[in-house]
Amino acid sequence: RDTCAVVVAGGSGERFGDPRGKQYVDLCGLPLACWSLIALDRSPSIGHIVVVCAADHRREMREDVISRLRLRCEVTIAEGGATRQDSVRSGLAAVPEDFGLVAIHDAARPLIQPVSVERAIACVRDDAGAGGAICAARVTDTLKLVEDASIVATPDRSFYWSAQTPQVFRTAQIVAAHKAAARDRYLGTDDASLIERSGARVVCVETPRDNLKVTLPEDLLIARALLQSRLA
Ligand code: CTP
Ligand code: MG
Repeated sequence: RDTCAVVVAGGSGERFGDPRGKQYVDLCGLPLACWSLIALDRSPSIGHIVVVCAADHRREMREDVISRLRLRCEVTIAEGGATRQDSVRSGLAAVPEDFGLVAIHDAARPLIQPVSVERAIACVRDDAGAGGAICAARVTDTLKLVEDASIVATPDRSFYWSAQTPQVFRTAQIVAAHKAAARDRYLGTDDASLIERSGARVVCVETPRDNLKVTLPEDLLIARALLQSRLA
């Protein structure tokens, strides 16, 4: 067990719009955030979980999410920041020293499965030249580059993947990348982009598209249907 999971749940879920925050809405009988913790806990490489949440959600996260699950892994709570990137940096600071790898995961992706987590971890562990590995899916729509509502170009779709989480890195390398990004005031929308800018190679691990991020209310309906069919 060489990998620590960092689960970011420190967002306010503005686009989702539920006053409780989307982390805590019901998904098949459990608060949404429970499902990714269950999957990570069942991944054989994961030995510790850091959960990042807003300071005023600490009690809810501890009592309604973590404590009710009887996880095998020890869980540490870290305090969220203003941006996702700040939250990840805070979570990384709480990773115990003996974990050489970290798997950074959005709490808002409840449908992640242990097999996908393990594949991404193995990619980094088994390839000394890889700076990271991310779960990702090939895009299925035709993509348009648009400016002022007019199409500028239609890029070749076969080159495009959409990034998911978990994203797996060597702990020291991603900590350094976050430090450099903070210094340069670089704000990325994922963690891999912070490693990419250092010139290191990041690998994509093809992952089912059902590892969706619950962003809008309709995403919860899809997640519920998918999870129900999995549990049936
Ligand atoms: N996140 C976080 N800290 C933040 C912002 C986001 O830990 N300051 C987490 C979210 O809780 C979520 C993940 O990062 O699990 C992905 O972010 P996103 O889907 O954008 O969630 P929110 O930021 O909460 O939603 P919105 O952008 O609609 O406000
Ligand atoms: Mg957000």
